[in-house]
Amino acid sequence: MKEKLTSIRQEALALIAQDGADLEQIKIKYLGKKGELTAVLRGMGALSAEERPVVGQLANEVRADIEAALGEKAQQLRASALEAQLKAEKLDVTMPGSSPAVGHLHPLTQVQRELEDIFIGMGFSIAEGPEVELDYYNFQALNIPENHPARDTQDTFYIAENVLLRSQTSPVQVRTMEHQKPPIRIISPGRVYRSDALDATHSPLFHQLEGLVVDKGITMGDLKGTLEIFAKKMFGESTRIRFRPHHFPFTEPSAEVDVSCYVCGGKGCRLCKGEGWIEILGAGMVHPFVLSNCGIDPEEYSGFAFGLGVERIAMKKYGIDDIRLFYENDERFLEQF
Ligand code: PHE
Repeated sequence: MKEKLTSIRQEALALIAQDGADLEQIKIKYLGKKGELTAVLRGMGALSAEERPVVGQLANEVRADIEAALGEKAQQLRASALEAQLKAEKLDVTMPGSSPAVGHLHPLTQVQRELEDIFIGMGFSIAEGPEVELDYYNFQALNIPENHPARDTQDTFYIAENVLLRSQTSPVQVRTMEHQKPPIRIISPGRVYRSDALDATHSPLFHQLEGLVVDKGITMGDLKGTLEIFAKKMFGESTRIRFRPHHFPFTEPSAEVDVSCYVCGGKGCRLCKGEGWIEILGAGMVHPFVLSNCGIDPEEYSGFAFGLGVERIAMKKYGIDDIRLFYENDERFLEQF
């Protein structure tokens, strides 16, 4: 029996020492309920009283040795598994990192800020007004009563009968004059809406920048000088501007103002549709009706106003020939600015 126990120990320890030993299997094979060591212990009843304690002690030693070997081997396996994992996950802190993609301002925002900077440099400050506007401010106070034909060219989206999405930034003129006494020198950039079909030059949502100056003795000369300085700052010193007579209900006299084409310099090209000029804004002297509507005496004060399209300016500046590019958010387009 002693020999049997000794050979069990030898066999078990040899198995445990092997590479890739299945420790759980070995444990069951020798120490399990039906294991070899257990079988030997069961047979101890047949031993003599003297032999029993001796064999019992040896059996305990064998069990202890096998358990110790199993524990030690398990410990080794855990350690080498951890080492392998650490090796596999090794981090090279000297590798260059992947740089995060950093975005930038949308070209329309860039242009709007550039416009703001130019006018702020000329002493203007920024005024704001709501995009959801009352009919009164968008039309009536601007000398566009119900049934006026100007409402056709600025057809917009209605929230309720007298509440609409503003079709122009001009209502900010009225809101400003209502609560601010002259001298007034403001610009007001923002979104405007018209129920126009989307094509290369029209969008139901676009951006304008309104300008308003009211003081004693303001003349059309001030308007021309201001816009000429603006055009040269925006498009370069060689840029020319031209005034064409026009009609707006809220200015008198009124003009449409063109700048010489950035792409062709005036010869005529696709961007300026062969004209050599690009219309960028509407302007004029504030109509006396609008002044007195806002509680400003037209006998004492006069003013000029202008409204320009931010998209048009951006298209002119960058040679972009389709307004839709601004709103599609195609990164291949946006990345270029
Ligand atoms: N609001 C006019 C438009 O949208 C532009 C404009 C503004 C004209 C101010 C004259 C004065 O067409």
